[in-house]
Amino acid sequence: MRLPLRLGVLVSGNGTNLQAILDAIERKKLSAEIALVISNRPEAHALQRARDKKIPIAVVTAQEYPSRESFDGKMSEQLDGKKVGLVILAGFMRILTPTFVRHYQGRLMNIHPSLLPSFPGLHAVQQALDHGVKQTGCTVHFVDEGTDTGPVILQQAVPVLDNDTEATLTERIHREEHKLYPKAIELFAQGKIRLTNRRVLISGGVL
Ligand code: GRF
Repeated sequence: MRLPLRLGVLVSGNGTNLQAILDAIERKKLSAEIALVISNRPEAHALQRARDKKIPIAVVTAQEYPSRESFDGKMSEQLDGKKVGLVILAGFMRILTPTFVRHYQGRLMNIHPSLLPSFPGLHAVQQALDHGVKQTGCTVHFVDEGTDTGPVILQQAVPVLDNDTEATLTERIHREEHKLYPKAIELFAQGKIRLTNRRVLISGGVL
């Protein structure tokens, strides 16, 4: 029998995606366990969500580790110490060093609130509204050294409604994120994701 995939989840904020992953594990929709949650912000609500489930947490701050190399080095030490097989960025608001990204290449995922490559970076939902697109959505992708440029794993479209504000559209995208991220992690856990050059192939198709 395959051992459950060990996840390391990096957070900075509310942690609704972390919660969705925790819930999917609890409902046995996801054959993984969270080995560690790391936050760069001690006040992040995501940490409380982890504490509530007795998940080990670590806080790594820029004050303690002022250089990006030392900061990321500390995170790698913690993640590797917990034998993490997949690192999940879930609202982690810091740029990662190329060293960190290379170390976890093919086992470092992010979720972004747009249909990449449209609207990378900050304020993706407002960018979509400003462009007047009729559809946006969310993307789970492997992380490479660029900003939101890595190979796409799964995407879910969300229609933009005439009366949408940034808040209402964000809310509907979030609901889809909470389904899409656990699904992508489960595909990885089942060994169904293959990365060839820039393309992600999913054996047996999407669940
Ligand atoms: C999500 O919208 C995700 O797409 C982006 O950061 C946000 C995190 O939200 N990368 P939460 O902390 O999981 O609620």
